[in-house]
Amino acid sequence: MDLYCVMGNPVEHSKSPWIHARFAELTGQRLHYGKRLIPLANFAASLREFMVDAAGTARGCNITVPFKFEAAAVASQVSARAELARAANILSFEADGIHADNTDGIGLVDDIQRNAGVALAGRDVLLIGAGGAAAGVLGPLIEARPARIAIANRTHAKAVALAERHQALALLQKTELLTPDLQGLEGNFDVIINATASSLSGAGVPVPASVLRPGALAYDMMYGPAARGFMAWALEHGAVPRDGLGMLVEQAAEAFLIWRGVRPPSAQVLAELRAVME
Ligand code: ATR
Repeated sequence: MDLYCVMGNPVEHSKSPWIHARFAELTGQRLHYGKRLIPLANFAASLREFMVDAAGTARGCNITVPFKFEAAAVASQVSARAELARAANILSFEADGIHADNTDGIGLVDDIQRNAGVALAGRDVLLIGAGGAAAGVLGPLIEARPARIAIANRTHAKAVALAERHQALALLQKTELLTPDLQGLEGNFDVIINATASSLSGAGVPVPASVLRPGALAYDMMYGPAARGFMAWALEHGAVPRDGLGMLVEQAAEAFLIWRGVRPPSAQVLAELRAVME
């Protein structure tokens, strides 16, 4: 049977095995998807071990924190979007080597547009953060052709560097990239995306409520307890809150499509996952 897994550290609470098992059931694909806890200093060796252990049946894996950067580096072929993100969340084991891709950004865009029903073309978007999570989604966000994307980060220079790296793509798509200071941030937006880790350190939402247009979509890329503060803040100020559970399912759906050539019914699986988690 074809074998897949998610590799990370920590990985214990990963929902990916559950999601991919449902995708396989619903599309009639025969596969097994497990999880592997990888020692922090051992990514490349652990990847080889997985490929050997599976004795020719390993077809690919998903990569999560903190190995997404290393995953892009070990591949012999890297997709344009993974190259821009400098990170990969999916590897495919092909006859000519390991292929790396990144479906996090398209997962976010699909969740916003298909599941939340908010079209991004022509809109004003605020992306808060310029770390790994933000870098993973900026390319596909630009490809959805918003009028402008403002990238605001605590460390301003990181936002500027991220914008510079995406400038050619933004010009092509006619999306304006801005890098306003996070301190004293002005203006308001249709879609606000929180890609910071600020809630993990117990810090509050790093932007003023004035960034929210009435009815704006306020999206936190995290889910569960880590997203609650941001969602409550958004609701309190007249925005529509959304957590990143749909992004998780949609990035998995895109990975499944790459591996199996079939797009699973992701909206159904998202509804089921929400029900299981509540
Ligand atoms: P990840 O992979 O989750 O993006 P990361 O690369 O360490 O992790 O990035 C964390 C992001 O959260 C960064 O944008 C970080 O801002 P800095 O670049 O200034 O470090 C942001 N962040 C973390 N804690 C924050 C806080 N208390 N307020 C505002 N931004 C914060």
